[in-house]
Order: sequence, then structure tokens, then C-alpha cells
Amino acid sequence: MPRPCHSGGVTDTDFASKLLAWYGIHARDLPWRLPPGAPLPDDPAWSYRVWLSEIMLQQTTVAAVAPYFATFTARWPTVTALAAVHDTEVMGAWAGLGYYARARNLLACARAVVADHGGRFPADEAALRTLPGIGSYTAAAISAIAFGRHAVVIDGNVERVVARVAAIETPLPAARPAIRTATEALTPKVRAGDFAQAMMDLASRICTPRNPRCDACPVRDFCRAADLGIAETLPCKVAKAARPVRYGIAWWIESGGQVLTITRPAAGLLGGMTALPSNEWRETASPNTPPLVAAWRDCGVVRHVFTHFELQLTVRAAVIANPSGLAGQWRSVDSLADAGFPTLFAKAAARVLANPLPFPEAA
Ligand code: ADE
Repeated sequence: MPRPCHSGGVTDTDFASKLLAWYGIHARDLPWRLPPGAPLPDDPAWSYRVWLSEIMLQQTTVAAVAPYFATFTARWPTVTALAAVHDTEVMGAWAGLGYYARARNLLACARAVVADHGGRFPADEAALRTLPGIGSYTAAAISAIAFGRHAVVIDGNVERVVARVAAIETPLPAARPAIRTATEALTPKVRAGDFAQAMMDLASRICTPRNPRCDACPVRDFCRAADLGIAETLPCKVAKAARPVRYGIAWWIESGGQVLTITRPAAGLLGGMTALPSNEWRETASPNTPPLVAAWRDCGVVRHVFTHFELQLTVRAAVIANPSGLAGQWRSVDSLADAGFPTLFAKAAARVLANPLPFPEAA
């Protein structure tokens, strides 16, 4: 008997209906979701939650996002509440979630929604795309999930599923137009939001990057890559060049139970975030020129991966007697957890605090 497949005699609605039936039983219960098939609330707080979750989930896992989503929605339950908050408060609440340009865009977007759209997110993809931090994936996801509009939602996970279903062997990124065409054909006219989230759940539970569980897949009958035995090899990727390494030094300057922190310049990496003072990060080992004369102790090296490079940050610490004349904010060592350090500097601080010997005073 011929297998039903996207190019054969079976309509694509069958793919969608099989997937949605599976989603009805296996949907992940996530704090920003409604149950499968539930009517969408006509409430601006609902689209706010969808937008917030989608921004947080860019480049970040569901497990990492969940506590941040809970904190943000408890502190700022509406876009209007978020738009009114001072930048540093939001940057502090975002600390640890990474990719900090997203937090700056988050605020810019909240303020634009209040100023230009009366505090309600637009439902239309094109209008959503004009807002800060909302690209084509996020616009499609919000339009479909928050408003039930027909939209074709394609992130890296959907790319994987569709490259397999349609057995697209062209390497990424050249495969993207073919993946879009295939996703358009699979996306149903109704329940596009549930369909998008079902694809995400399928990608995370069944159609995983390695060892896909094709035997448990609700749409196995539609998958050409499974037929060909090549599911795990797709999507093909062109080998990436190794990330370059940069080197830097962070200085922990402590005095009277307080540690010196700075706010990083708004433009640039970790812009506007609370940090330890550090030198410029360069591709050659940094000259070890401390900001002041003291008995510096080496506390090891923190390795941190940014999008375009890996940073090896040496952490050096000293206790000094006279703190005057140093620019920055002094914070109690005991309250550093609330300082809003991004992960890099939280890791650097942990290096020092792991071995909190009283340092020798500076001469
Ligand atoms: N990743 C991006 N959006 C998501 C969603 N709505 N549910 C689960 N994972 C996601």
C-alpha cells in the first residue's frame, strides 16, 4: 500500500490533524500556554504573556525561561506595567537569562506598544514586525499563538522537523526557502498557534536532533527522511568555523565587606549591565595591569561563550584599605546575589566567593 506523504495522494491536513491529535494528549504544560484547543482570551494580558515568553525563549531553553517568566509576570502583569519600569530594574530582573540586547528591546517594544498601540499588541504579522525585537519568527508566533491568525511559524526546531518530513538535503542556510515552502504546505488554515506549538513539542520530545524517536512519531507516515533512513542526518549544516577566543581580566576590589561594581557602557556587550571592573577583551592575552596597586590574588579563569567568541576571563581579587577615588557602585558582598550580575560576572564572583579568605591588605 502506498504510504501517505506530502507529495502523494493525501492532503497536508492529514499531517496537521495527526499532529494536533497527538498534541491534544502530549502537549507540554507550560506557564505561557493554554490547553490545546482552548478559546483564545480577548485580553491584552494574554498577548503580553505570549510575546514575553517568545522573547525569553529566543536562544534559551524552556527550563531556563520558566522562573524568569514567573517573576516578570508577577511583577509586571501587563505590558503597560512593564513599560513604566526603569531600565535598570528590568535589566536586573533579566540578569542570568543572557543575550541582553533582548532585554533592551523588550523595554523598547513594551513602550512602543503603549505609545503607538494603546497597550495592546497588534495581531497582524506585518505590524508586529515593526516593533523592536520582533523578527519574522516572533511575529508569526505571536500572531498565531496569541491571536489565532494563520501564520507560518519557523524556528530552528521547526526547520529540523520539516527538513526531515520533506527530506530536504540541501544544507542550511540554503535550504530555508524550500523549508518555508514545505512548512506553508503543512500549516493548517485553523489552529495555526496550536500547530506551531505542536511542532515545537514534537521537535523537543520526538524529532530530536540526535536519536529521533521515529517509532513513536505521530507523523511518521508522512516523513520521507524516516522512509529513507536519513532522519538523524537532517538538516544538513555547513561546518561552522571554530569560535575565536578572547581574553580579559575582571577585578574584584573589596573593602570593608563591600565590592566595587560598575555599570557597563550602554553600547556594546552586556551593555547597561552590572559588572565587575574589567579590561578590554582582546584576541591576545591581556596585559596584567591592575587598576590599583594591591596584593592581588588569582581566582582562576571563567570561560563563557558569546555568540561570536569564547571569552576566557581571569578573575583577580584584592582587599584594599582605602576605597576612595574609585568610580562605580560599592555593594555589600552579602547582597551580591541581588546585584543583577549577568551570568559571566555571577560566575566570576562565585570564583572569588568559593574561597573567601581574608585577603592581605594592600601595602
Ligand atoms: N519555543 C518558542 N516558543 C515556544 C512555545 N510557545 N512553547 C515551547 N517552546 C517554545
